[in-house]
Amino acid sequence: MNTEELLKLKQRALEELQAAGAPAALEELRVKYLGRRGLLAEIMQGVKNADPAERPLLGRVANEFKNELGRRVDQRRRELQQTDVKIAPCDWTLPGRWPRQGTRHPISIVIEEVTAIFAAMGFTVADGPDMETAYYNFDALNTPDDHPARDPQDTFWLADGRLLRTQTSPVQIRVMETQPPPVRIIAPGRVYRRDTTDATHSANFHQVEGLYVDRGVSMADLKNDITCFARRMMGADVKVRFRPHFFPFTEPSVEYDFSCHVCGGRGCRVCKNSGWIEISGAGLVHPQVFAKVNYDYEQYTGYAFGLGVERIAMIKYGIHDIRALYANDLRFLEQIRP
Ligand code: PHE
Repeated sequence: MNTEELLKLKQRALEELQAAGAPAALEELRVKYLGRRGLLAEIMQGVKNADPAERPLLGRVANEFKNELGRRVDQRRRELQQTDVKIAPCDWTLPGRWPRQGTRHPISIVIEEVTAIFAAMGFTVADGPDMETAYYNFDALNTPDDHPARDPQDTFWLADGRLLRTQTSPVQIRVMETQPPPVRIIAPGRVYRRDTTDATHSANFHQVEGLYVDRGVSMADLKNDITCFARRMMGADVKVRFRPHFFPFTEPSVEYDFSCHVCGGRGCRVCKNSGWIEISGAGLVHPQVFAKVNYDYEQYTGYAFGLGVERIAMIKYGIHDIRALYANDLRFLEQIRP
């Protein structure tokens, strides 16, 4: 064997070393090259019998080969032992880590449920923009120029004269403008008010608007349909109460309450000890509103109602602070299932 062949063999040995991924393979390699009857022992024997002129160089190269490989084998062994230590404590019988699964947000759950209940009563879903004009949010809803709701203290006005809708009622107008009666729609969506946030108020919250227009629609229909809805949503034992109120776009107007589901009407923090939760307002559509959309108010009547989604979520799931609905804390959200 000459020097060149010897260097090639060394190269191959180092490559095999790099490939040895486990202690057993490394030991096999050590025996093959460095063992008592290994290749290097044989080569050393060959050096003794080599041409005297070549012997010193050949001897030096062979020695370097042996020493370097010996060093590298030791080093590799230490490396493999270290990885061994890391792998050893793993218990393959342990259950795996499951990826966290998302859940539907309580607001979405309530809106979907409200939609399903009214769909069963013949209502379809309508929609309108969050950025509204004063016409749809106020004028067409018979709300006079000096009405306090128009005050910048109560409404978020945009620089271009539009506003963030303070109610879903503008969708009533948008729907009636585009279709003749009869109409039976609900319109879920976000609304915005300049309210200071506390346990029961938020500057943006959700409503579902309802509108039913046909010949002969009366207050009795309104009371019946709201009560039907309440029973399906909250359970058969819920009580509904209507109180006289005023809205510019309904006449007569009411506010309506559900009995508090959290305490069963006995009084608690959520219902502020009254036993009732105010859900929203409702009433019979004002003839002035029909006039704005060219509906014949001699022939048609209708009812409209709002519905506070957060309020329903709070009593249905016993949530004591409206802010919990916006904090995106999974520990809270995961507890609420349809
Ligand atoms: N838009 C009213 C509110 O936000 C509720 C309402 C809707 C009242 C429909 C009457 C008719 O308070």
